[in-house]
Amino acid sequence: VTAKPTVVVVGAGAGGDAVAWGLRKQGFQGSILLIGAESERPYNRPYLSKQLLRQEITTEKTFLRPAQEYERRNIQLLLNRRVVRAHGSDRQLELQSGGRIPWDVLVLATGSEPRWLPDAPRRANVFTLRSLHDGLALQTAVAGAGRVMVVGAGFIGMEVAASARQLGKEVLAVEVAPIPMGRALGEEMGQIYARLHRSRGVDLRTGVSVSRWIESDDRVRAVELSDGTREEVDLILIGIGVSPRVALAEDLGLSLGEGGVRVDEALRAAPDVFCIGDIAAHQHPVYGRPLRVEHWQVAQRQGTGVATSVAGQPEPYREIPWFWSDQYDVNLQYLGNSRDFDETITRGNTEAEKFSIFYRKDGVIQAVLSINDARTGRFSRDLISRRTVVDGRILADPDSDLKGLAASA
Ligand code: NAI
Repeated sequence: VTAKPTVVVVGAGAGGDAVAWGLRKQGFQGSILLIGAESERPYNRPYLSKQLLRQEITTEKTFLRPAQEYERRNIQLLLNRRVVRAHGSDRQLELQSGGRIPWDVLVLATGSEPRWLPDAPRRANVFTLRSLHDGLALQTAVAGAGRVMVVGAGFIGMEVAASARQLGKEVLAVEVAPIPMGRALGEEMGQIYARLHRSRGVDLRTGVSVSRWIESDDRVRAVELSDGTREEVDLILIGIGVSPRVALAEDLGLSLGEGGVRVDEALRAAPDVFCIGDIAAHQHPVYGRPLRVEHWQVAQRQGTGVATSVAGQPEPYREIPWFWSDQYDVNLQYLGNSRDFDETITRGNTEAEKFSIFYRKDGVIQAVLSINDARTGRFSRDLISRRTVVDGRILADPDSDLKGLAASA
């Protein structure tokens, strides 16, 4: 790589944006190209299902930075450009519009594509939610709807259900699994979320799917569920999960795994090629195994991590993954990864909707899930990073001093 290399970032989401800004912050002197397929500059995706949907903020407020800031920092923002192929042998990207773009260092931050139900008709009142464009369309449709249906009770479905209830809409949620939010949160928390939504008026049906779509005049008017019931609805949001966009990684012959691209501790997939965000199956130095996390803040932090590696020397990215979800007045925070645990310890009162759950393996905390209890998560970060073994009775006691414990660990 030359003294002033060209860094090309594919994907202008939170991750891609953080790479570009992080590089300039670190004093990087080379060229930076940030390529995005959407027509808007990077925005705050978490707003889409919450504040933007409820019209509490303007579209302008969703952008991460003023438009002129990119130019000011000499970051070339190429919007409305779709990269359709990557050529490893001559280090070039091919755009759908025809041009080619050479790179010295490549960062893939391509994110995920929302999944579509194969038998769902593509109609004006059937939505997915991923882009700002989707968010604005959904905002208008929900505002004019009486009864909203979400298919899939994961993060998208449950956040949109909560927002729609807050707007005074009737909400029907249809989930094929026995509990909502099960993929990320597991059985026990799924039950808690089911109660939470039902107590706020969501008509949540679990263990069912849509078996028939009943249309007229270019709209879906009703659905038939697998239990035989028929429901009239005004609009449908499909939130049944996502597929990481790994096509460019495949072009480059990068190693795939865990549903994404395998990257080393420094988020590197090959010499001078990095991946971040949804697509990155990161060999995490604290966990000693690959983690692939589909959450916004992780993409952003990894972007900053890659910037540090590119501006200097590749170094292990050690941050513990973290995400949050706000539904009604309930704030969930989740720190770490609990795929591998042999014990849970609850701190606080689950009935009172203020508690944390520690997930441990051989006494080492793997993850902490907090409901309206952000402090516990915050003070657990160092305990996780340092793999500190703490007496379970201390963790379980809501009055114990985790802050002091982390400081002395
Ligand atoms: P998800 O994976 O969280 O949930 C999908 C849900 O759909 C699951 O509960 C699954 O059982 C259900 N499902 C699958 N097929 C179905 C079918 N045929 N009928 C009914 N239900 C079905 O994915 P989701 O909610 O679409 O979110 C997309 C992505 O965005 C995820 O990566 C998620 O992590 C991320 N996200 C994160 C948020 C946060 O961190 N607060 C907020 C919104 C999205």
